[in-house]
Amino acid sequence: MINFFSAYTKTFFFEWRHNLNRYRPIKLGERLYPAYIFFNERMNYLREGAISFEAQNVFYNPTMKLNRDICVASVKSLGIYDYLDALSASGIRGLRVAKEVGIEKVVLNDISPQAYQCIKRNIVLNGLTNCLAICCNANALMHKRHFQAVDLDPFGSPSPFIAAAARSALAYLMITATDTAPLCGAHFNSGRRKYLANPVKTDYHKEMGARILLGLTARELARQDKAMFPLLTYAVEHYVRICLGIKRSAKLADESLDKLGYVEHCRVCGSFNILKETSPKGKCIGCSSATVLAGPLWLGNIQERDFINQCLKHLKGMERATRLLETCASEDEVPFYYDHHSICDRLGLTPSKIDRVMDLLRESGWKVTRTHFAGLGIKTDAAINDVEAAIKAASLNHNS
Ligand SMILES: C[S@@+](CC[C@H](N)C(=O)[O-])C[C@H]1O[C@@H](n2cnc3c(N)ncnc32)[C@H](O)[C@@H]1O
Repeated sequence: MINFFSAYTKTFFFEWRHNLNRYRPIKLGERLYPAYIFFNERMNYLREGAISFEAQNVFYNPTMKLNRDICVASVKSLGIYDYLDALSASGIRGLRVAKEVGIEKVVLNDISPQAYQCIKRNIVLNGLTNCLAICCNANALMHKRHFQAVDLDPFGSPSPFIAAAARSALAYLMITATDTAPLCGAHFNSGRRKYLANPVKTDYHKEMGARILLGLTARELARQDKAMFPLLTYAVEHYVRICLGIKRSAKLADESLDKLGYVEHCRVCGSFNILKETSPKGKCIGCSSATVLAGPLWLGNIQERDFINQCLKHLKGMERATRLLETCASEDEVPFYYDHHSICDRLGLTPSKIDRVMDLLRESGWKVTRTHFAGLGIKTDAAINDVEAAIKAASLNHNS
């Protein structure tokens, strides 16, 4: 007669010895238990950072790896111990934070039951004991619970989640926005509805988008008596990303609101004028044409050098992220920039070397740096007339 018990035991130990890689610790109460991972032999797991994961029928965009690499470096640099990945999908962002930073607690939330099941499988697959999966509307969760750090990475606009995130986040708030057309002024009405601000399409549209997102976030935080301190702001490919420090203080929140303002833009000569109040001149100071008004938007600093330098230490070997953050750290803190080739087009000149134009501005005593927002961008406190003069002078030298 077959001894079923012994056959089962043999099979179990055979399995155990030969499939150790299929057992992962899971935490039930205070104790850890080995859990067997059932998976389809033919299933190809994805890999990003230190995580193996699946994203079957769940959103995953591998091109956002850069964003997540920088996110992991930011969480490491800030010493975050309690992090909410509010819109998790496969969970890859929160899973990477949990494994690569090894922080105390990561909550991964998604409203989709499919995503929730996927997150749970990915937690077990990676043997993570510091993660909690939740299947909930992110707004409801963020209204109920506080987290030291909240991260929003939605489809398109983060605008429907910013009020609840401003309430939930105690020390840090990170936001990705992929709706660049409304933010940057290409879809004016949509931008106005979502961000309660007038976005205007300009040569410096990427920074316009970032500052409009920062502006709405500053206002939502101020409603909670919280002030914001931008640590890192960048716009690449199809998205804007902001990483903010937060302090609870009515006085500091008032000071945050004082950093909001407007930009009066001339579509004819490309000049712009920063305004603290809604008191536009209506006429360009350079060419007297009618101007358009963008805002309210954030006019304060958008990069924090010490923080970025800390992040850079955690991005060794990641060339693209390093280049991006080095440029962010080196950018001058004057709002907006001029586009070298657009000005040359308007002046009917063949562009000379951008570095020569920048040297000429520097020699005349103006602050001047490149910007990550645009390869041909010149960030300077000089007015358009001075930039045009430098471009003409560089062009003369270039052609003589
Ligand atoms: C862009 S994906 C997230 C990508 C993910 N952060 C990553 O790095 O791969 C957005 C996710 O938000 C989820 N979602 C949409 N509305 C939600 C809501 N109100 N509450 C929670 N999750 C929501 C969607 O199901 C989707 O999985």
